[in-house]
Amino acid sequence: MKTVAFLCFSFLCSRCTLCTSPSDSLETKSVTDVYEYLWENNKCIASDTIEVDFLQEMQNGSLQAERYVSFTMQDINYILNVTEMLKEMSTKVILPVDLRNFMIGRYSSYKKYSDLILNQFFFTREPTIRPIPAMTKYLSFYRNLMKDDPVYFAVGLLPCERLWGWLAENLNTPPTTAYYFWKVENMGGHPEKHYRALLNKYLNTPKKVGKANAVFRAQMQNEHDFFFSS
Ligand SMILES: *[C@@H]1O[C@H](CO)[C@@H](O)[C@H](O)[C@H]1NC(C)=O
Ligand SMILES: *[C@@H]1O[C@H](CO)[C@@H](O)[C@H](O)[C@H]1NC(C)=O
Repeated sequence: MKTVAFLCFSFLCSRCTLCTSPSDSLETKSVTDVYEYLWENNKCIASDTIEVDFLQEMQNGSLQAERYVSFTMQDINYILNVTEMLKEMSTKVILPVDLRNFMIGRYSSYKKYSDLILNQFFFTREPTIRPIPAMTKYLSFYRNLMKDDPVYFAVGLLPCERLWGWLAENLNTPPTTAYYFWKVENMGGHPEKHYRALLNKYLNTPKKVGKANAVFRAQMQNEHDFFFSS
């Protein structure tokens, strides 16, 4: 991983294309923890993301309130859509039982959160929000994942959960600024509780790990592009 970080840095990697070649690293060593591997292998997209001006301005408190409101609306659209997809996945996936329980668990958690957020903003029913292009791209990637082996839908969900927690921990937002709340609210999630065992169990061949890496990377990039466009 040291070499990877160095490569990213030395080429000022902006899209992670030069960072790693997953097939190389897969050939030279077997992956023991796929959950960690996916993150480590694509962490340079996280480093790129934290540098976008939206997050930098959030950190130093200079972000225009209107931009934050627009971002929040897009995020509500994201949550509503992903909750809807999880609802479908939780009825569609019957077997294996642990994957089914994962979908049911994620659906119930997303549903609880979307109800909370609609209530917080006084919506009496689900609003129709026009997505920005970055959001349309992100959600259509999700929709395509629904047609595949459900384990890849789980992989596709992970970048959001892992990245937001990482951003919250790594933004040095002072407690006295408006966006400190965002930091605190997104800190301390534990995605590993839901994902680690599941991904490590089902992503058990180099081919599956390679495919999972492509899905994970695309969704990390979609997260980046959402922040970049916000
Ligand atoms: C806050 O961050 C932005 C983006 O990096 C920068 O352009 C701006 O000058 C900073 N403002 C303050 C007050 O530090
Ligand atoms: C979000 O979900 C609604 C309801 O299913 C759908 O009409 C809308 O097109 C979706 N938006 C995006 C960007 O996928």
